[in-house]
Amino acid sequence: MLQDKIKQFTAEIKGFTPASVVDVENFRLKFLVAKGIVKALFEEFKTVSAEEKRTLGKILNEFKQLAEQTYSHAQEQFADTEKKTQREEGDLTLPGEGFQLGSRHPLSLVRKEIVEIFKKLGFIVTEGPEIEDDWHNFSALNFPPEHPARDMQDTFFVEKKDGNDIALRTHTSSVQVRLMEMGKPPFRAIMPGRVYRNEAISARAHCFFHQVEGLYVDENVSFADLKQTLFHFVQELYGKDTKVRFRPSYFPFTEPSAEMDISCTICKGAGCQLCKQSGWVEILGCGMVDPNVLENCGIDSKIYSGFAFGMGIERITNLKYEIRDLRLFSENDVRFLSQFETELV
Ligand code: DAH
Repeated sequence: MLQDKIKQFTAEIKGFTPASVVDVENFRLKFLVAKGIVKALFEEFKTVSAEEKRTLGKILNEFKQLAEQTYSHAQEQFADTEKKTQREEGDLTLPGEGFQLGSRHPLSLVRKEIVEIFKKLGFIVTEGPEIEDDWHNFSALNFPPEHPARDMQDTFFVEKKDGNDIALRTHTSSVQVRLMEMGKPPFRAIMPGRVYRNEAISARAHCFFHQVEGLYVDENVSFADLKQTLFHFVQELYGKDTKVRFRPSYFPFTEPSAEMDISCTICKGAGCQLCKQSGWVEILGCGMVDPNVLENCGIDSKIYSGFAFGMGIERITNLKYEIRDLRLFSENDVRFLSQFETELV
């Protein structure tokens, strides 16, 4: 009898407690597919008498609903647990999902390297403002009033003030003055920072670049100390087989002054395009601090002497990575930047 069958299957469905997705699928196959029980009972329903149809129709429809609801509840229940087990039992041996890290700017990498070398020699790091007054950028450093470096062509002026113009610093030597004004020797410091010059931008010149300046002032500091310090620096930076040579030069703030060359890092001294076939490339200016500069900063030049040096970080970086165009440093092209080391700090 149809009614008995409905009763029996209703009981079965009500007692349905699936233990896995397989049970849920089997339920569907048993009751809900085209050849399943629900369809079969509807077929049988067609054969019963009109009188029976009146009562059984309602019961049968309720049965159909019960089957469908039971199935969809079971499905929901296992959809949840399936996700959970995927999370909990995910394959732990799979490689982790990497995320992309940025890379350090080559100038930052090289600045850090320079700073580390000098730190080991007992130099501290000091910094000063990029907007400077005439005294710290020029006058205290022994630049005569009509010196060409004060010319509008080299310097970006910010404000004209009688006798003490405000400008963007043209070198980090200004930080030497600020340091010496602050206290008493000994001073042993390096000063990394950005500097500005009013120059046309090209592969070889830019209107801003970066320097590291160094200063050592104490009793009995000699040119031999200067040479040995810079020789050590170069060997640490470019390797033990790097040679150095000093050429006499002129800077207002040092006397005597020199420029230091190193054996070409590309051709190792044999001669190439970079060193213009000479085998040598210039990397920094240096000298003994002019007594006038010491006195300008309130330091007794009869007791104290010192050496100073200054280098462009761009130049040092170009030699290290063979970069031929200064503009690459400030264009923020990730194809260039991503070639450099990534630091996980
Ligand atoms: N200030 C110089 C420049 O910008 C570099 C320099 C040369 C710095 C000699 C020094 C030095 O401290 O002693 O070209």
